[in-house]
Amino acid sequence: MDKDVSKRLLRDGQVPTLPWRLASAPSFAYEADMIEDFVGYPCIVKPSKQGSSVGLTVVEQPSALEAAVLQAGRFDDEVMIERFVRGRELTIGVMGDQAFPPVEIRPKKGLYDYESKYTPGMTEYLCPAPLDEETVAQVQAYALRAFRLLKLRGYGRIDFILAKEQLFCLEANTLPGMTATSLLPKAAAAAGIPFGELCERIAQFAGIQQHH
Ligand SMILES: Nc1ncnc2c1ncn2[C@@H]1O[C@H](COP(=O)(O)OP(=O)(O)O)[C@@H](O)[C@H]1O
Ligand SMILES: [Mg+2]
Repeated sequence: MDKDVSKRLLRDGQVPTLPWRLASAPSFAYEADMIEDFVGYPCIVKPSKQGSSVGLTVVEQPSALEAAVLQAGRFDDEVMIERFVRGRELTIGVMGDQAFPPVEIRPKKGLYDYESKYTPGMTEYLCPAPLDEETVAQVQAYALRAFRLLKLRGYGRIDFILAKEQLFCLEANTLPGMTATSLLPKAAAAAGIPFGELCERIAQFAGIQQHH
């Protein structure tokens, strides 16, 4: 749940992630020059330790940055200012050492924000995502690497943006939804693993780890 720490680990392990800077409480100060040169515009401003797309703003120009930082600062004491790229959104379910087929997330309008996430019908999910073999292999390899770098166990879901043939890891979900219609179960089904078996395998991973 800490995007800043996650992105540092990803960067260390050569999983591509977009450039970012942090602005922290109490002042939420940032170096405007650094944001301009290193992050660039447009950028996206978000709480660093949140999970439901709250307090998110896409900022097109420097004059709008401060208000966006203060807005995100209502939800967290650390605010992330990250380069914004337009692209296709992909998510990879991981179980143990297996990466499932990519799911593509297509919000019907704009960002995959709170409304698109939680209003039925506002987002289309394509599983498996229509991608060439090479991209599938690449994104799955990055997902497994991210899973290990972040020391996740059992299962998880890693999110990416594919922009102009380049993949960037957005974040990892350490407790992804596990209802019968959630994305990881959908991806598992596409890999030939029905919901019941998926649950059993996850329970087995947890059991094995208790003996260590
Ligand atoms: N750097 C970015 N470039 C483009 N879109 C982004 C970027 N960061 C976030 N988004 C969009 O905002 C959504 C939510 O951001 P995310 O970082 O996943 O936060 P949360 O933890 O709230 O899910 C993403 O699913 C994506 O649609
Ligand atoms: Mg997310």
